[in-house]
Amino acid sequence: MPELLRIDASYAPNGSVSRELTGVFAKAWRDRGSEYTLVERDLRTDPVPHFAHPALHWHPPLGEAPPADDALREAARVQRSLVDELLAADVLLIGAPMYNYSPPSTLRAWLDHVHVRGLTSAAERDTRPLRGRAAVIVATRGTVHGPGTANEHRDHAIPPLRLILGEEFGMEVTVVAVNRTLSASLPALADERPAFEEERRTAAAHLIELARTVTRHAPQDDRPDTD
Ligand SMILES: Cc1cc2nc3c(=O)[nH]c(=O)nc-3n(C[C@H](O)[C@H](O)[C@H](O)COP(=O)(O)O)c2cc1C
Repeated sequence: MPELLRIDASYAPNGSVSRELTGVFAKAWRDRGSEYTLVERDLRTDPVPHFAHPALHWHPPLGEAPPADDALREAARVQRSLVDELLAADVLLIGAPMYNYSPPSTLRAWLDHVHVRGLTSAAERDTRPLRGRAAVIVATRGTVHGPGTANEHRDHAIPPLRLILGEEFGMEVTVVAVNRTLSASLPALADERPAFEEERRTAAAHLIELARTVTRHAPQDDRPDTD
């Protein structure tokens, strides 16, 4: 039963371009057959708490055990359920809007929880159970952030996702970006609307194609290296 974990992080209750496009991907995934299952987490309506203690970044016995008080035990329980949800997914899909040149703070909080040294990323050994699995990121931004633009070096939203999911977890990351989304609502940017609509159409077609073809590597490819 291949499972897709879809995570949305737009702050917008309506009209979110990233949520529209993760929805397009999720539908194409489900259309592959009833065995293609979907787990959805919306960080706008169901945010995860901020990270509670640095010890939670290290998987025992590498780090000190979290202090044995009720609040931290609960924090560790929440973290474990988020990690387990991620590990159960064959494919990860994230809607990642740009806010103040950064990822949504809710998505950063999720990332802090699921990046655990010695559990999801390597520490003393190559413990990376997500290695080789696909992560598809739908990036939306109000203006243009491509090469040669004034904002070329100001994208701090996608690089941390590439670093953690791609380099630390070893996932195969694909980023599908849509620029100029604010042209749909800001009269001052109306001239850019045709370019935005074209990018949105192209992104949707790309995501449908990806959702129809993406697969998880054979289990032996995911086995962590041993000494
Ligand atoms: C608080 C806030 C900060 C934003 N910061 C940026 C920014 O730094 N750069 C940018 O290009 N767009 C910025 N935008 C515009 C959003 O990236 C854009 O509206 C995007 O489409 C949001 O994703 P969504 O359509 O999935 O909701 C910002 C929007 C908000 C609400």
